[in-house]
Amino acid sequence: MNILQVNSSARADGSHSTRLANTVVERVQRSLPEAGTLVVRDLGRQPHPELNETALQALFTPAEQRSAEQAARVALDDALIAELQAADVVVLGVPMYNFGVPAALKNWIDAIARAKVTFQYTANGPEGLLKGKKVYIVLTRGGQYRNTASDTQVPYLRTVLSFLGMTDLNFIYAEGLAMGPDAEQQALVSARQQIEEAMPA
Ligand SMILES: Cc1cc2nc3c(=O)[nH]c(=O)nc-3n(C[C@H](O)[C@H](O)[C@H](O)COP(=O)(O)O)c2cc1C
Repeated sequence: MNILQVNSSARADGSHSTRLANTVVERVQRSLPEAGTLVVRDLGRQPHPELNETALQALFTPAEQRSAEQAARVALDDALIAELQAADVVVLGVPMYNFGVPAALKNWIDAIARAKVTFQYTANGPEGLLKGKKVYIVLTRGGQYRNTASDTQVPYLRTVLSFLGMTDLNFIYAEGLAMGPDAEQQALVSARQQIEEAMPA
């Protein structure tokens, strides 16, 4: 059983999403009959480059015609795709930044979504190729937006992850983290309860 943890907080210390993602990983590991491998991809510490013109040109150049620089750029994305393909369980730590996902996480998504590798178009429409994975998504927010129109993160993540074939999505919310110490404590207790409830029996 392989676990991939992707952290996207810009904070090195004190990140609630990273801490709660750690809790999910520990809880998943405890539920496994035997120890699995864990890969931690920390996008705050090791930012992935954005999808710019240079990257697009590299991606659309046939492999055998790529310059060394282009091959190196594509290899960065290949590494993220390989990590994800190898994972049975994916744990995402996702802070809300200005009503969206962190740019660091968007760069990861732009890297892992690749035609004919992680999705393909068929006569019946698009087909995601990253199937059979259990995905836990820890959402941390200063305010409270669950089930409101202002929560663009959940519909976005649901759309793009299921497009890629990841349909077993478990969202864990820690909301109101900036609404005072009591609200913060309550949010963390609630998030830990949601983690327990999300675990397979
Ligand atoms: C740049 C920035 C933008 C933020 N934007 C929002 C926001 O739009 N809505 C919200 O509820 N909280 C917002 N917050 C609060 C964070 O979501 C909250 O602090 C969360 O705990 C961050 O995750 P982390 O603890 O893993 O770093 C923002 C925080 C930062 C630093």
